[in-house]
Amino acid sequence: MNKQPIGVLDSGVGGLTVIKTLLAELPDEDFIYFGDTAHLPYGNKTPEQLMTYARSIMAFFGQFPVKAVVVACGTHSSVTLQHIINDYPIPMLGVVKGAARSAVDATSNQCIGVVATQATVNSGTFTREIKSLRPDCTVVEIACPKFVPLVESGKLDDSDTRQAVHEYIGPLMDQGIDTLVLGCTHYPFLSPVIAEFAGSQVTLIDPSHATVEELKQVLRSQNLARQTNEQPQRQFYVSGNQESFFTVGKLLIGDVIQKVEQVFLD
Ligand code: DGL
Repeated sequence: MNKQPIGVLDSGVGGLTVIKTLLAELPDEDFIYFGDTAHLPYGNKTPEQLMTYARSIMAFFGQFPVKAVVVACGTHSSVTLQHIINDYPIPMLGVVKGAARSAVDATSNQCIGVVATQATVNSGTFTREIKSLRPDCTVVEIACPKFVPLVESGKLDDSDTRQAVHEYIGPLMDQGIDTLVLGCTHYPFLSPVIAEFAGSQVTLIDPSHATVEELKQVLRSQNLARQTNEQPQRQFYVSGNQESFFTVGKLLIGDVIQKVEQVFLD
């Protein structure tokens, strides 16, 4: 079992922010990445549509099979994970709980901003999670639909990106947040621009760190950590166009992406 890969899923390149942290923290593990680019963006999909996508991706992972799944997607972590987590006999970790914990630890004035997809904001999951840890927190959640297309096209620092950051983050600053959760896994790729705009008084929370920390503990406690001297394997699959994922993915995380294969899910 411990030689099996870890499944990592997202709608597109967003989960690569989690892959970056995984590579740094668990360099010996094999993983299978699935970017559901045929259905991108997830942010404007209904919970029913998202449930269908989640189940087909889990069926795809079942072919390998994977020993654990990282739901490297704020939208699935907020909308579908709670409904499917008991249907699979492997650990499944989302990005919400860890990010909520990090935010609560980071805040001094108990005013936390959350930027995420529309579907995530509609679910209210981040606010619920943060308030369950710290009821006196004020949580301001906003959807940032322009961010995902910008990241997917590799525009991490151009004038459109700066304008969108200004438009979305400005109102949160006006509300006095001192902590900002990047609640969609695409957004940490915009961290430099967001940090420059928000200034040093706002702590940015990239959910990948707490999530990978949680994964490390799960692998350790369930005896699932990979113990072999063989070279780790990293495979990338998408449901849409493989060339654009390859090009943008390489720009975002470099040579770890050697090949991208397209698969059609039911
Ligand atoms: N990266 C995903 C998330 O964390 C999905 C974004 C999208 O496709 O809208 O929510």
